[in-house]
Amino acid sequence: MAKARVAVLISGTGTNMAALLYAAKAAECPYEIVLVASNNPDAAGLKLAEAEGIATFAHPHKGLSREAHDGIMHDALVAAKTEFVALAGYMRILTPEFVSQWEGRMLNIHPSLLPKYKGLHTHERAIEAGDSHGGCSVHLVTAELDDGPILQQTPVAILPGDTADSLAARVLIAEHQLYSRVLAQWVARENTPEYWLNRVREHALAQAEADEVASHGMPCFGIIGGKKFAYFSHDHHGDGRTALLVKISGAEEQAMLIEQDEARYFRPAYFGDGWVGIRLDLGDNDWDHIGQWIAKSWRAVASKKLVKLLDIADEF
Ligand code: GAR
Repeated sequence: MAKARVAVLISGTGTNMAALLYAAKAAECPYEIVLVASNNPDAAGLKLAEAEGIATFAHPHKGLSREAHDGIMHDALVAAKTEFVALAGYMRILTPEFVSQWEGRMLNIHPSLLPKYKGLHTHERAIEAGDSHGGCSVHLVTAELDDGPILQQTPVAILPGDTADSLAARVLIAEHQLYSRVLAQWVARENTPEYWLNRVREHALAQAEADEVASHGMPCFGIIGGKKFAYFSHDHHGDGRTALLVKISGAEEQAMLIEQDEARYFRPAYFGDGWVGIRLDLGDNDWDHIGQWIAKSWRAVASKKLVKLLDIADEF
C-alpha cells in the first residue's frame, strides 16, 4: 500500500521533524515525509531535511497578512501532494481557513499535558504549579490554539531541582518517541476496513430516506422500504478485496469503467451487470468522488417522486 504523504511545518530547530523523518526510514512506517516547510528561511531543520534529500520550502511571514502567508504555505503543501500535515514547533497562529482545509489531517505536538498550559512557557508553568509531571500531547489541529482532540500524551516526571530547560530537554525526548508513533497510527487508521465502512456509511446515510441493513453478511444501504443502492463488500467469498458496490446503468458502463481503471473497478460476482465494484483498499481513496458515486447510485434506485422532491429541495 502507498505510504501516506506527510509535510512537516517547522519554525526552528526541527528536532521533532528529524524524529518523524528518521522514523519514516523504517520500511514498515506507513508515512513518508514529502516536504519540510517553514516560515523561517533560517530554520536549522531545513538544512537537515535538505541533507536527507527531502524537498524544502520557506517563505517568511514578515509583511504579509496571516491569510496571505497561510495561503502561500497551503499552495506549497498542495504542490507537494501532501495528504497530512505535521506541525512540529511551527510557531504560527493559523487562520481558520487554513485549518479547515486540513481538517482531520493536521496534527500538532505541544509540550504540556493538554488541556493544561496551552500557549508558551509550558514547563515553567508546570514547575511553578507544583505539578508532579509535565509532558507532551499530540492533538488534531482545530481553529482554537492548542485545543483540538487529543490523540495521545506522554507524562514526564518533574524532578526536584528541575528548571524549565532541564524539564524541556526530557520532554523533548518523550516528544520524539510520541510523535512518530501517533502520526503513524493516525495515517494508518485510514487504511482499515472499519474506517472505509464508516466513510461509506456517512455518505450513504446522508441520502434521503436511507437506512442500513445487513444483506448476505454485508453492510448494505437502501431506501427505507425500497431498493438497495450500496453494499460494503469485505473479503466476500474470500476474494481478498474490500470494495463499495454501487448501481450503474448496465453492462456497457460496467465494461467502460473496468477498461478505464481495471485496478479499481470490477464486476462484482453474483450481482450481474447493474452493479460495479469500486476497490477501497488501494490506499488512495478520493472520498468526494466515492460520495458522488453513492449519491448517483441512490438516484438510480430512488422513486421518481423522491428524486423530484430532492431536486426541488436542491433548487432552494
Ligand atoms: C517542541 O518542544 C514542541 O513541542 C514545541 O516547540 C518545540 C519545537 O522543538 N511546540 C510548541 O510549543 C507549539 N505550541 P523542535 O523544533 O526541536 O521540534
